[in-house]
Amino acid sequence: MSADPTTSHPGQRPSATAATRPLLLRLLDAPVHWTGLDAVAAPARDLVRAVEPRWLADLLHGTWLGHPLHPVLAQFVVGSWTSAAAVDALSLAGLVPDDLADGADATAAALAGAGVVTALPTIASGWTDWAELHPDQQRLGLVHAASNYTATAVFVASLVQRWRGRTTSARWLSLAGISTATLGAALGGHLSYRWAAGASHAEHVPHVAPEGWHRVAAYDELVVDEPVQGHVGDVPVVVVRTAAGVSVLADSCSHLAGPLSGGRVTREHGEACLVCPWHGSAFRLVDGSVAAGPAVAPQPLLASRVDVDGGVLARVVPLP
Ligand code: FES
Repeated sequence: MSADPTTSHPGQRPSATAATRPLLLRLLDAPVHWTGLDAVAAPARDLVRAVEPRWLADLLHGTWLGHPLHPVLAQFVVGSWTSAAAVDALSLAGLVPDDLADGADATAAALAGAGVVTALPTIASGWTDWAELHPDQQRLGLVHAASNYTATAVFVASLVQRWRGRTTSARWLSLAGISTATLGAALGGHLSYRWAAGASHAEHVPHVAPEGWHRVAAYDELVVDEPVQGHVGDVPVVVVRTAAGVSVLADSCSHLAGPLSGGRVTREHGEACLVCPWHGSAFRLVDGSVAAGPAVAPQPLLASRVDVDGGVLARVVPLP
């Protein structure tokens, strides 16, 4: 069984072609190599895992939503702050008529405050997702978080200045806040798109596995509730025999590509589930849906049957 990379992945090192990559990309990638952050990351990860009950972690991951909750919440924060900064920029540029100035400041304050309030659950969901990432991703995630905490602090300072009647400095702080939040958003987007945090690591399976029926196991050699690995073409799948029949799912866990064939079968609310050995996501064997996170995306389920020779056959099911 492969080791859990959350604790053992050595981290990717700069490639020989790093110098040829655009400067912006190198800057966004830089935190991945700051291994000194691991001294902070390890105890923080253990703390998050220790204090959160599973139901709360699943709520904050977005398991119930079928989509990571963190980027959904972040839309409210960034949208509110962007709108507040836009109003403040118009005021600073003198484009707001005098009779509308008070209304503009009140609007900017309300938007900045809405962003600060919605930042709280966004931060909680971010930490929850972060605790189940690879070390490389966690380093980048820490810098992403630091940028956004700085932005939150700057917007709070802007609100304080506005409350003290110092509207000009409040407006400038608003612009500083959205600039910092933009940096945080860029790091968050890079973490998701380049470093694949939050993306499904099983979505490709229906696209790359060859069509038609393929023998993946011998039925008589399967032990009830003991997963084994098979292959459809070159694509690994996990085969599980239960009292109800045989299930075949993609072997690469949708969370971070852990090997489900190294997992175990359990029962969640009476339903047979396959539990990933890396971070404990549970997938229902009947349809591949998520019973427990940190995974949020379902596990691709293949059609399966037992032929007359006792072979377990599996076939990729076209996406609905
Ligand atoms: S790889 Fe994280 S739960 Fe499977």
